[in-house]
Amino acid sequence: MGLTETLGNEAEELLKHVENGTTDSAEDTLEIPASAYVDPECFAGEMEHIFKKLPLLAALSAEMPNPGDYKSMELMGKPILITRKKDGQVSAMLNVCAHRGMIVAPEGHGNASLFVCPYHAWTFRNDGKLQAVAEARKFGSVCKEDKGLTMLPCEEAGGIIWVVMTPGADMDIKAHLGDMLVDLETYGLEDWHFCGSRTIHGANWKIAYDGYLEGYHFAAAHPETIHPRTFSNIMTFTAMGPHMRVGFAQVGIKESLAAIPRDKWGESENQGFDYVRTIFPNVSIFFAPEITQIAQLIPGKTADQNTTNLLFIRRDPPKDDADLEAIEGIMNWLRDVVDEEDYGVGLKIQKGMESGALKSVIFGKNERGNQYFHKYIDYCLSDDPDKVPPIL
Ligand code: FES
Ligand SMILES: [Fe+2]
Repeated sequence: MGLTETLGNEAEELLKHVENGTTDSAEDTLEIPASAYVDPECFAGEMEHIFKKLPLLAALSAEMPNPGDYKSMELMGKPILITRKKDGQVSAMLNVCAHRGMIVAPEGHGNASLFVCPYHAWTFRNDGKLQAVAEARKFGSVCKEDKGLTMLPCEEAGGIIWVVMTPGADMDIKAHLGDMLVDLETYGLEDWHFCGSRTIHGANWKIAYDGYLEGYHFAAAHPETIHPRTFSNIMTFTAMGPHMRVGFAQVGIKESLAAIPRDKWGESENQGFDYVRTIFPNVSIFFAPEITQIAQLIPGKTADQNTTNLLFIRRDPPKDDADLEAIEGIMNWLRDVVDEEDYGVGLKIQKGMESGALKSVIFGKNERGNQYFHKYIDYCLSDDPDKVPPIL
């Protein structure tokens, strides 16, 4: 079945759920230990078996579309530099000078083919190679091949630049994304316009991620922001490997879909229904007509914290100043909703988990996506090649 047909069927499922008062459902409820959100050993395992192994979103292609563009940031507590070289290919490296460890490129976006370390002015090319040692004659001999920046595995796919945070590790982004790549590629995100980003701070990364995987909380937690547009507790779930497409029914789904021929439903995202796409382990994407929000959840130093970058893109660049202002307004609005209504709740949940009140938390049959996410984490933590991955 083609993707359009699948999406059309999901829209029909959502419509049926609305008519019948149902939602996609797991077989049973699932309890997981509350310690999964607080235990330092569990957290260390997640870093080791998930975040150091899997490709992570480092940048959107649209953030650095031109040769020479770069982005310098912290990812998983490490300074990294992502560059686009003359031939259009991307590279990623640890942004750490081979002389005495200074951070080389300044944080943020820019365009440069050479980077000069601010400490003693060694110069690096944007492919990571050492170009020149400052005052080399006085310094003594240096093997230039050995003293480049430390490269990280890096690939560009689906309009996203992916990095594995372990030098020398294997990387196969096509295999990792599977059918999610087919889904992403229909959007051509690499040709979209990068509008900007917002950063928020929250609780344990899984508490934050759990919030993107269900609409059960819409009525209680988002009564004035999301709930007026979207039904609470009506979802469809489709898994693509560990990644998911979660469908939500808009309150006007019946009217919207009635106005569209059935064979076009699969091309009618945002007209009666919306999706949150999650890319394991830490990305969520919400396509909306006004703007698209891509959330990048970065676990903090300890289990109780995460930093989330909300990256915003749109098909077209701003038309004029009024449009630009509108974009800024919607980015702030979305940031405030996620920050105040989701991450605010998350920080309280973190306190709840740390109180010792609970041995376990329970996910309902309706919270099917969360169940799958936590089962997948357990599968990764087992680090057992003979084990079969969970199914949704
Ligand atoms: S630390 Fe970079 S040039 Fe000395
Ligand atoms: Fe929410």
